[in-house]
Amino acid sequence: MSVEAARQHRDPRSSAPLGDPEFGNPEWIWRNGSLIPWADARVHVNAVGHASVSAVFEGVKAYLSADGTRLLAFRLDDHLDRLARSARICRLDLPYTRERLRAAVLDLLRINGYAEDVYIRPWVFPSGVIREQMVPAGTRCDVVVDTWPFRSGLSGGDSCRATVSSWIRVGDASAPPRAKAFSNYHNGRLALIEARENGYDWPIMLNERFKVSEGPAACVAIVRDGTIITPSLTSGLLESITRDTVLALAAGMGIPVQEREVDRSELYLADEIFFMGTAWEILPVTSVDRLSVGAGRVGPIASLLRTEYDRLVRGRADHHGEWLTELPLPGGE
Ligand SMILES: Cc1ncc(COP(=O)(O)O)c(C=O)c1O
Repeated sequence: MSVEAARQHRDPRSSAPLGDPEFGNPEWIWRNGSLIPWADARVHVNAVGHASVSAVFEGVKAYLSADGTRLLAFRLDDHLDRLARSARICRLDLPYTRERLRAAVLDLLRINGYAEDVYIRPWVFPSGVIREQMVPAGTRCDVVVDTWPFRSGLSGGDSCRATVSSWIRVGDASAPPRAKAFSNYHNGRLALIEARENGYDWPIMLNERFKVSEGPAACVAIVRDGTIITPSLTSGLLESITRDTVLALAAGMGIPVQEREVDRSELYLADEIFFMGTAWEILPVTSVDRLSVGAGRVGPIASLLRTEYDRLVRGRADHHGEWLTELPLPGGE
């Protein structure tokens, strides 16, 4: 259904309230091919529980361009491709092509009328009443796209205190972290709760081989003697799009990069450490297990990368324009 048709087809008898802007709920949501009022997007109670265990999702961001004329969805196609890969690993049928989902995201951004930074959440879960613990492969799926505004940390000086978690990251031989499956976040959640109870901001998790893997919602990199070192993609982590972006930015700036196994003790010797992820963007770590990282302040390489990332996502960089899907704002064309 087109944006205009969706507006005209809203059932005037619907008692459902519109989304509450104060809490960031949009007016519209996309479900199974249609734009529908956010509050009408309901399911039966039996559709939660086992359905969620096998569900997969994506987290994408659209940034307001520096000149305020466009929304720029960052690496949207790459995120939609990863959604398809996650569905494949989890044996879910994703009934929409990348092109269809890209159009869905753009329609939703348009109809919700955003002129600010927006987080985009496409997700796929087995449809209907699910009482089966082991949801069979190929079960029909619902596909939903939700959106909400967010505040970017890219232009600020945010940093965090990290700890090495006692929880081991789920592994490729148990629950592959390469799939962005909701169920993997139980593992990250336990690590986060432990970190917060012990007075830290975020955990860094080790993998089954006791090498550094990732945070609960971001990859991690260290800097030693001017080289960015990040755990390899076979260290038990999500194939992060921000990690890939950072590696490309570093290459463009002539900063040497290594992708390899990282020991826990290297965290304690690093000159800089930073998280990388769509949600956390580039978040410097100033201490690990109460040992200061470098001078205990945001380091120069993390700071440079954050500035470059901000330029890129807001359409001010003169490279990688192919990573930006543009949505002109009304009056901005
Ligand atoms: C577990 C985990 N690792 C890494 C990332 C970073 O991935 P990306 O940069 O594609 O957002 C995320 C964020 O989605 C995540 O949840």
